[in-house]
Amino acid sequence: MAILLPGGAGYIGSHTAIELLKEGKEIVIIDDFSNSNPKVLKAIKKITNRDFKFYEMDYQDKAKLEKVFQENKIDAVINFAGYKAVGESVQKPIEYYTNNVSGALVLLDTMRKYGCKKFIFSSSATVYGEPERIPITEECKTGGTTNPYGTTKLFIEQILKDCYASDPTWDICILRYFNPVGAHESGLIGEEPQGIPNNLMPYIVRVANGTLKELSVFGNDYDTKDGTGVRDYIHVVDLAKGHLKALDKINQEQKGLYIYNLGTGTGYSVLDMVKAFEKATGQKVAYKIAPRRPGDIATCYADPRKSKKRIRMGSNQNIRGYVSRFLELY
Ligand code: UFG
Repeated sequence: MAILLPGGAGYIGSHTAIELLKEGKEIVIIDDFSNSNPKVLKAIKKITNRDFKFYEMDYQDKAKLEKVFQENKIDAVINFAGYKAVGESVQKPIEYYTNNVSGALVLLDTMRKYGCKKFIFSSSATVYGEPERIPITEECKTGGTTNPYGTTKLFIEQILKDCYASDPTWDICILRYFNPVGAHESGLIGEEPQGIPNNLMPYIVRVANGTLKELSVFGNDYDTKDGTGVRDYIHVVDLAKGHLKALDKINQEQKGLYIYNLGTGTGYSVLDMVKAFEKATGQKVAYKIAPRRPGDIATCYADPRKSKKRIRMGSNQNIRGYVSRFLELY
């Protein structure tokens, strides 16, 4: 039995593929390389010394997707496919709703047709909008998303809840990621955003290595300890392992729909990240204070107790450990 990974050549998908292969699981990856690189597949094989099936295709292509289900015994699906750039989603809402929401529907419909009803979904802390309270528990209300990307996550969560309500033979796990960062220790794969990065850590790296001149710190007048935005940065390998725990959970427990935060429970400010990066690398990171970025919130970090208890997620990172792991790629 194999686990299907749509979007498995992407940042989080590829790190999860490695952890699954290391655990001896069979996987099948589908990806159209719209935001990933074919060389990642070779890297996964090199790191794990394992082989797997790969289909280059758009996961919305129903005929091709059916072929994948016909040719493989798919036991579960972990869906990493989807567009994820917040700013771009504001410019291209139709593309985002089509790819993310219609794509998920094609996948769920095909899974149902082939009797595969175990689904793990990459959601995001963005579904909490302006959080009701900090730290954020899974029970906090969702909604009030500020961009189409976030709304696609919210819509898909609702679709999954409705699917489960209509047919409780589904096993569904929704994972709400906080801020994934870092890279695999081999240095062979990592985050490779195209063009100028939107996210903090890839931007800092490009300033440190001289590709970009300086970091713009978006706002220093938030109600936080130093006025800059606070986030919960989780190492991508820890995040990847969370998917294996989620898989164990849906394999072992009674059928159900489960929701977990995947974060560390600790918030760091933008300036904390800059300082820790400088300390770990000995490299200066030039920055200037810039206006707030529209749509940003002051503080966002998880209450990870539920995932610690129920799926036994480890959460023992400290900022220095995280930065040094992050640097393994660079
Ligand atoms: N920031 C800067 N300068 C930059 C980039 C970011 O100061 O050049 C700041 C932001 O204002 C924020 C923090 O760094 O305070 C983190 O910003 P990111 O863009 O790295 O991440 P976000 O928290 O905005 O968004 C991330 C993901 C989204 C996801 C969200 C969930 O990118 O996909 O977490 O909370 F929806």
